[in-house]
Amino acid sequence: MTNCVNLKIWFLNLLTFFTVLSLSNGRSNAEFPVKAVSLGGWLVTEGWMKPSLFDGIPNKDFLDGTALQFKSVTTGKYLCAESGGGTILVANCTVASGWETFRLWRINKDTFRFRVLNKQFVGLDGVKVVAVSNNSIDSVTFDIVKESDNSSGVRLRASNGNFLQAKTEEVVTADVSSVGAWKDDDPTIFVITIAVRFQGDFQVTNGYGPTEAPQVMKEHWSTFIVENDFKFMTSKGLNAARIPVGWWIASDPSPPWPFVGGSLQALDNAFLWAMKYGLKIIIDLHASPGSQNGFEHSGSRDGSQEWGKTDESINQTIHVIDFLSARYAENPSFYAVELLNEPLSPGVTVEMLNKYYKAGYEAVRRHSSTAYVILSNRLGPSDSKELFPLANGLMRSVIDVHYYNIFDDVFENMTVQQNIDFIYTNRSAELKNITSSNANAPLTFVGEWVADWRVKNATKEDFQRFSKAQLDVYGRATFGWAYWALKNANKFWSLEWMINNGYVEI
Ligand SMILES: *[C@@H]1O[C@H](CO)[C@@H](O)[C@H](O)[C@H]1NC(C)=O
Ligand SMILES: *[C@@H]1O[C@H](CO)[C@@H](O)[C@H](O)[C@H]1NC(C)=O
Ligand SMILES: *[C@@H]1O[C@H](CO)[C@@H](O)[C@H](O)[C@H]1NC(C)=O
Ligand SMILES: *[C@@H]1O[C@H](CO)[C@@H](O)[C@H](O)[C@H]1NC(C)=O
Ligand SMILES: *[C@@H]1O[C@H](CO)[C@@H](O)[C@H](O)[C@H]1NC(C)=O
Ligand SMILES: *[C@@H]1O[C@H](CO)[C@@H](O)[C@H](O)[C@H]1NC(C)=O
Ligand SMILES: *[C@@H]1O[C@H](CO)[C@@H](O)[C@H](O)[C@H]1NC(C)=O
Ligand SMILES: *[C@@H]1O[C@H](CO)[C@@H](O)[C@H](O)[C@H]1NC(C)=O
Repeated sequence: MTNCVNLKIWFLNLLTFFTVLSLSNGRSNAEFPVKAVSLGGWLVTEGWMKPSLFDGIPNKDFLDGTALQFKSVTTGKYLCAESGGGTILVANCTVASGWETFRLWRINKDTFRFRVLNKQFVGLDGVKVVAVSNNSIDSVTFDIVKESDNSSGVRLRASNGNFLQAKTEEVVTADVSSVGAWKDDDPTIFVITIAVRFQGDFQVTNGYGPTEAPQVMKEHWSTFIVENDFKFMTSKGLNAARIPVGWWIASDPSPPWPFVGGSLQALDNAFLWAMKYGLKIIIDLHASPGSQNGFEHSGSRDGSQEWGKTDESINQTIHVIDFLSARYAENPSFYAVELLNEPLSPGVTVEMLNKYYKAGYEAVRRHSSTAYVILSNRLGPSDSKELFPLANGLMRSVIDVHYYNIFDDVFENMTVQQNIDFIYTNRSAELKNITSSNANAPLTFVGEWVADWRVKNATKEDFQRFSKAQLDVYGRATFGWAYWALKNANKFWSLEWMINNGYVEI
């Protein structure tokens, strides 16, 4: 797995393999079924959707959460945290995987902290290099000194001024005060591999730093989505926009470091334009304090998933929902609030989620009796109906599921026709399974889907058939559906491109 899309695919797959038909019929729909598109990559950053946003960052390969591996030129083996962390570093690992992977915390463009698999930070015990402290403050910072821009050779200079060396396979120290030429017999030299890139809001804002980031983000927010996009959506038959936001929006204009202010103003604009063009808005909390899934699009610094482990993180998130509901409750375009996008099992338990969803629902209801409240199913191992006991008791609640024919390896060799059959047979059964005619039951929302797949060299007609199949089936969701996304550097993920070029017709 080389990037976040793949990770996401993996977890989405786990979610979607339940195959028992239920006898339920669809219950009455919402006022109208939502035909929406997500304004992804706008107020919550995802580097793959707009790579150029990262272009101006100095040393942009080394951002927070970037996963690095270091192979010693003398031992020919990888630097690794023995046992994944909690003890010394060694240089005797032959295969680069978990123990051999170091996640960056970026201090500035040259200086970093390293975090190991079990979450400890790399530090020193005398001259011995260890990974024992859970506290970043106790750790040592390292400069990554490159041989040249074109070489993958690096040295690591610890904050005590000494270079780290693989003295032997089993002894790694930081005790070399001066180094010479770049030669293959020098134990201070390592060949570096970037195992995972991580490009979310933490990365872009901390990458540019406090002076430049506010300007760069303001420029992005005011150009990526503009009024004309709302006109486009209406003219093409869409009736709503799902807008991902990050938790820091509630402390605009001065959110906690490294996040920057201004996304609230952009959301205000979206409401203005939505009203003008008769569109509804679904506010979608995509990034929560501590991160609910460890994906780059949840504001995570290094892939850690901390949300829900403390009441404080839950309370802070309720505050965000309360803030947004209060701000937009009177706006005629305010249609729904999605309390949390893609919480990931097992890190987020159903208990945490029930507690949060109940309180989040009440926070919305304090300001609006009519807004729909959307509860996202967990990704990862989970039961597609696990939220029903809670949702059955909540008026105007909605269950959100995300259906992608990409991330699970089951799609690897599927033909065009097999993909289409999967939609009509398997997705249709999954959706029917969670759609109930019971008046207390939640509505259903296919909150993310895309007309891209793993089929290679598909024709335009193939894409048309595939998107039509999905529109047919997801059109049966009682709340509606939302395509991911309106704009994307990858054209098949850009609904704007797909519509303009005749690949998708709403
Ligand atoms: C229907 O839901 C149940 C869990 O409530 C699950 O076990 C089953 O696999 C689901 N069937 C389909 C087709 O998704
Ligand atoms: C670090 O955290 C882990 C897991 O919570 C714990 O087992 C360990 O004792 C902690 N280490 C230190 C040095 O506090
Ligand atoms: C690095 O590679 C680029 C493109 O191949 C080349 O133009 C440049 O001169 C190289 N720089 C060094 C320091 O070798
Ligand atoms: C690497 O060295 C450590 C420390 O001596 C040892 O415990 C471990 O078994 C070694 N691992 C391998 C793969 O040789
Ligand atoms: C979280 O909010 C609840 C309800 O308002 C309160 O009882 C609790 O003390 C809060 N917990 C923390 C850690 O803030
Ligand atoms: C897909 O096809 C390739 C090549 O035939 C094969 O190696 C691979 O195992 C297949 N994958 C799946 C999931 O069937
Ligand atoms: C799709 O559903 C059919 C019929 O229930 C089943 O035989 C098939 O295994 C399912 N396909 C996948 C990939 O789960
Ligand atoms: C797709 O097209 C490219 C370029 O025409 C070709 O090299 C490749 O083999 C094709 N792949 C498949 C799976 O047909």
